[in-house]
Amino acid sequence: MAIPRETVEQILQTARIEEVVGEFVTLKKKGTNLWGNCPFHNEKTPSFSVNPARNIFKCFGCGKAGDSAKFLMEHEHYTYPEALRYLAKKYNIKIEEKEQTAEEIMQQSIREKMFNINEFADKYFVDTLWNTDEGKTIGLEYFRERGYFDPIIQKFHLGYNPAKWDAFTTYAKKNGYSEELLEQIGLSIKGNNGLYDRYHGRVMFPIHSLTGRVIGFGGRILTNDKKSPKYQNSPESEIYDKKQTLYGIYFAKNAIARQDECILVEGYFDVLRMHQIGIENVVASSGTSLTMEQIRLVKRYTKNITMLYDGDAAGIHAALRGTDMILSEGMNVRVVVLPPEHDPDTFGKEFSTEYVNNYLKENAKDFIRFKTELLGAVAERCRKRPH
Ligand code: UTP
Ligand code: MN
Repeated sequence: MAIPRETVEQILQTARIEEVVGEFVTLKKKGTNLWGNCPFHNEKTPSFSVNPARNIFKCFGCGKAGDSAKFLMEHEHYTYPEALRYLAKKYNIKIEEKEQTAEEIMQQSIREKMFNINEFADKYFVDTLWNTDEGKTIGLEYFRERGYFDPIIQKFHLGYNPAKWDAFTTYAKKNGYSEELLEQIGLSIKGNNGLYDRYHGRVMFPIHSLTGRVIGFGGRILTNDKKSPKYQNSPESEIYDKKQTLYGIYFAKNAIARQDECILVEGYFDVLRMHQIGIENVVASSGTSLTMEQIRLVKRYTKNITMLYDGDAAGIHAALRGTDMILSEGMNVRVVVLPPEHDPDTFGKEFSTEYVNNYLKENAKDFIRFKTELLGAVAERCRKRPH
């Protein structure tokens, strides 16, 4: 569907390059321009400039240059219409669009279709959580039981997928979404008796891109059924690349840049808890073990990472691996180990914000101290063990 030419011009004139780029790159004013580390190539001293007067960006290192739409196409891998739609949304510019016909829906690019169906599913899960009996008594009650308050449940768009085998799938099909798309994006699974919901009977966590679009979901089981995995997650797709994704980055990025520090945790609930107690510079690698791509994503906002991992053996092992990777990217890393019975979620539930902040301050160890003390503890254990 074409965007009218006048609207395109209006969008490009309204968009402020420093605001658009500023969502992704930390910029500092120097003279008439703003400067930052180029997001398109690896560099240690800023050669990426933004010129507000001319409304363009230019990198003197790699040569990339252009207007706001160009920046989004390069940075977010948007198509031109996607970039324009993003800008229109950011600046509240209405694009006159007709009601979509079935044929027009077909013609949208696959990525755009995937974003659409995820947004549709997100709304459905949220609506089910808040406005249906099952959602309220099972899903909402679960979050409340774990000590989560409404504002955080709303902010993160937490939801609920009914326990009925195909509740969402049927609703989506009724609304014109194809079985093929439902299966491709992973909201539904094909079984012997047709398509059914991937997440039935689970509370839902939408996973947002840097710009706040829903690229995937995680769903937590509410029973103790050991046969099903605790979390079901979206498979990868054209819009969801797990190694490039950090859970919570959309909600954390400003705080990370402002505080010049990123706290890295392991799980969805760890991110929620930290936000609820007012610590917002927190993201989770969620499921995948930490990747270099995730580390570079953080590096756009800060060079300082604090790993806040569980105090069990798995947590310590993951932290050791993480420190090496973060150091290899030329960043600073510190590790905070929690008492063995805690993860950030339970720790933040039990103690006050002040206590948690103090604990972080007092227990953050640089990698040398972290490793030395770990070795010391191992040696101690060997010494004590009777031969
Ligand atoms: P955890 O087992 O620590 O889960 O896994 P959690 O987030 O603390 O959840 P609760 O507190 O038990 O409810 C950490 C992360 O690993 C991923 C999820 O992203 C989870 O948040 N994970 C875990 C999966 O993807 N699948 C699983 O089966 C388990
Ligand atoms: Mn947990």
